[in-house]
Amino acid sequence: MERIIIQGGRRLEGRVSVSGSKNATLPLMAAALLADSPSVITNVPELRDIQTMADVLRSLGAAVSFSANTLTIDPAGFANTEAPYDIVRKMRASIYVMGPMLGRLHRAKVSLPGGCAIGPRPIDLHLKGFEALGARIQLEHGYVIANAESLRGADFNLLGASGSSVGATCNVLMAAVMAEGESVIHGAACEPDVVELIHFLSRMGASIEGAGTSTLRIAGGKALHGVEHRVIADRIEAGTFMTAAAITRSCIVIENAPLHHMEATTAKLAEIGVAIEPADGGVAVRGDTGNFRPTSITTGVYPGFATDMQAQFMALLATVPGTSIIRETIYVDRFMHAAELNRMGANIRVLSGVATVEGVERLSGAPVMASDLRASAALVIAGLAAEGTTIVNRIYHIDRGYEHIERKLRAVGAAIARVSDAEPEPQLPE
Ligand code: EPZ
Repeated sequence: MERIIIQGGRRLEGRVSVSGSKNATLPLMAAALLADSPSVITNVPELRDIQTMADVLRSLGAAVSFSANTLTIDPAGFANTEAPYDIVRKMRASIYVMGPMLGRLHRAKVSLPGGCAIGPRPIDLHLKGFEALGARIQLEHGYVIANAESLRGADFNLLGASGSSVGATCNVLMAAVMAEGESVIHGAACEPDVVELIHFLSRMGASIEGAGTSTLRIAGGKALHGVEHRVIADRIEAGTFMTAAAITRSCIVIENAPLHHMEATTAKLAEIGVAIEPADGGVAVRGDTGNFRPTSITTGVYPGFATDMQAQFMALLATVPGTSIIRETIYVDRFMHAAELNRMGANIRVLSGVATVEGVERLSGAPVMASDLRASAALVIAGLAAEGTTIVNRIYHIDRGYEHIERKLRAVGAAIARVSDAEPEPQLPE
């Protein structure tokens, strides 16, 4: 079992570089299955979730190699219509293969993703889209099975109760580009990850209009070919480093931050009192302005405030004098980190999807437990600011989404190390 140990209270300084985006890469990997020739994807972060998706693609017959942040995916052997429980259970995003399976093989049997630490995560919208395109859906023995003799273009709405869905939009889009005729998807998600998939599919030969808007028009049925593509930078990793600078009241320079995808994050940081300035080769994030103010945050779909930044801001606001309010509208139960932050001296109350954060003078190091990827990041940055030693347990969550995090933080002066002991790590789904 591995843990991260942090000796807190140090100022950070220096430069840190942002990796390629995990959540943008995962749908591209699935989309590579739609081509009749290999694709090469560069700037891919070395992460557990990328390895898991590579295993899913291999289980379907594709050949996948990954080295030096470059993925090569050859779909020539893609013929298997079943994605088994043992692989899918490790990562919910495995469901992304369903669209390509249905689109190319006209059948998909995929283990139904189970519950996870951030709350219920249904896939009803994915299935609604597949049905609109002509698939018949059955649920059997923990598997979702979709069959379609042929897919045909259709006009449908994918909006759910919490707004648009990134996963459903990507998944259904991958099936729609294979369907004969025109499809119109209303209520599509506008996240940069969806736009990135649209760029990738378009370069493969697909015809899709409306990228970055809630209505996508697809002229389906075109043959797609493999492409070489560089993945966009990870806006959530960049935002996490920004909150690390802010919580430690330090100044660091962040290279490759995709600021054009981060307006809600940078606007909130500015409101709190963090200065973000252009710097040589990057952006300087100054948490040393000496004048922080509390704020209120409501998470929302893009371009709103990302739920994937909520935990890190909660850690930051826990150190800002005054009362801050955080409303979580995407995953109303995504507050497991609040109790762990309270173990570090924070003063946070959670009631019905709303967290009230009373800023404290200082956090104190403690052993804490990571519950999911972004919660782990929040606990790590809290540990950087806390007095004394913080031990973050169940750190395998962080390896799913942050490339070399302790190496990167050490390079800007953090006292952070990874230790392991012989005890085996339980595998929890996310
Ligand atoms: C993606 O998950 C991300 N994961 C999540 O990041 C992120 O939190 C989320 O989008 C929201 O931005 C990946 O990209 C791999 P959704 P996804 O479908 O696609 C509801 C991280 O930490 N919904 O946009 O699964 C759903 O319950 C992870 O990197 C339905 O009701 O999220 C939620 O309330 C965690 N029915 C809302 O929509 C459905 O069929 C948005 O979820 C699908 C979703």
